Amino acid sequence: MAFEKNILCIGAGYVGGPTMAMIAHKCPQYRVTIVDINPKRIAAWNSDDLPIYEPGLDEIVKAVRGRNLFFSGEIEGGIKEADIIFVSVNTPTKTFGAGAGMAADLQYWEKTARQIREASQSHKIIVEKSTLPVKTALAMERILTSTANGIHFDILSNPEFLAEGTGIKDLENPDRVLIGSGETPDGLKARDELVEIYANWVPRERIITSNIWSSELSKLVSNAFLAQRISSINSISSLCEKTEADIAEVARAVGMDSRVGGKFLNASIGFGGSCFKKDILNLVYLCRHYGLDEVADYWEGVVKINDYQKERFILNMLGAMFNTLAGKKICLFGFAFKANTGDTRESPAISVSRRLVEEKAKLVITDPRALINAEADLADIKEEIDLIEDPYEAAAGCDAIAVMTEWDIYATLDFEKIYGNMRKPAFIFDGRNILDHSNLFKIGFNVFPVGKPPLTHF
Ligand code: UDX
Ligand code: UDX
Repeated sequence: MAFEKNILCIGAGYVGGPTMAMIAHKCPQYRVTIVDINPKRIAAWNSDDLPIYEPGLDEIVKAVRGRNLFFSGEIEGGIKEADIIFVSVNTPTKTFGAGAGMAADLQYWEKTARQIREASQSHKIIVEKSTLPVKTALAMERILTSTANGIHFDILSNPEFLAEGTGIKDLENPDRVLIGSGETPDGLKARDELVEIYANWVPRERIITSNIWSSELSKLVSNAFLAQRISSINSISSLCEKTEADIAEVARAVGMDSRVGGKFLNASIGFGGSCFKKDILNLVYLCRHYGLDEVADYWEGVVKINDYQKERFILNMLGAMFNTLAGKKICLFGFAFKANTGDTRESPAISVSRRLVEEKAKLVITDPRALINAEADLADIKEEIDLIEDPYEAAAGCDAIAVMTEWDIYATLDFEKIYGNMRKPAFIFDGRNILDHSNLFKIGFNVFPVGKPPLTHF
């Protein structure tokens, strides 16, 4: 069968893989190919054991792979054949030189743009899927058009708003799809072509368009707003712990104002994930670049509160456990940065683990999906850590449990049994407020939630 369009995606990661699988699933008339420089990743996408865990992803990939979805290492050939190229390579925070620790590292993006330029023999639409600093599209346009071969490229910004763990649902039924384009006739034509792809399953009124810089900035600002809600509620959780207030009650009362809304107000150990911190720092860097120091300081505060929340958690543990953790055994329930994913990038559990080991505690880590990543993240301190998938076995012989990830299964465990096998006095630090605290207290635990008064037997 002849396909209507050839779509290529460069970067087979958490964003590229699921997004392209959804396009292939919803649009059998297009041929969708995903390429990546990492041959292991491509091999995994072509195997029974996909490289990322995302509920619902397996089913979709297995239904369309080999039909109109293909994973390949052939980047150059893929570029030649493509009408539309999505770029979803990683853009981590720079670790060197100017802007280190703040700005986005654009080297992969730029290398990809040059690769596209070298391999292209005909007009192409290039779609930025990676989150990028504002005005990147302009730089890319300059790179792409810097040879005299006369090939025309149109660059669009189409940020991805999916959240891990609910990625397939978010892709299938997005709140909005945002497409930024140049306002020239060519730019608008390219924009309409991308609109048509999404219109195969997304209602037209949810496909919004803007100029290219508004689109790039909107992605950074969306993540900054979401993260800011978490830092706001977490900052208040510290005040609740000093008073008789309960953060869940406060969040409920505040969130029922329809102007505020009730979602994303769960106090926690702090936010993690590959995006929030990176994108806020990017925003902060951008503001500083334009001399907007007050604005930069304001947003930087969101990251500072997040770091403070993690440190506060450790200090609470230390204080509760008689000011020493040396030699004590602590079991971390969960290591993923959130539930329903095996992803551990920027997971609060990483810094908590490191701090606990600094305090000379021994760690046992349990997680239904993230132990392989946990092992890699903590390779340098592996002597201090055991990784055990079964939570009952993991908690046995421990002094304390600290809940890091809000996996549903933790709320339904038999805590009488767990308590029976722990050292006494036994502690639970619920960094996600998902457990039944009064029941745990009745069983005999000393319970320390986030933003609520502790329940102790002392
Ligand atoms: C990435 C970016 O991190 C994020 O900023 C953006 O919003 C979306 O794309 P993610 O998909 O989670 O997010 O990243 P990752 O899982 O690391 O995937 C990126 C893939 O690109 C990797 O598989 C990597 O091998 C590949 N890549 C990287 C290339 O194919 N070519 C390169 O030059 C660099
Ligand atoms: C986020 C954005 O939600 C998504 O739109 C964007 O495309 C990528 O970044 P993601 O990082 O995958 O998605 O997950 P998200 O659900 O936003 O959670 C981020 C972190 O915040 C997690 O560590 C989560 O546990 C934490 N969180 C979330 C809270 O601590 N409290 C909340 O109320 C909500």
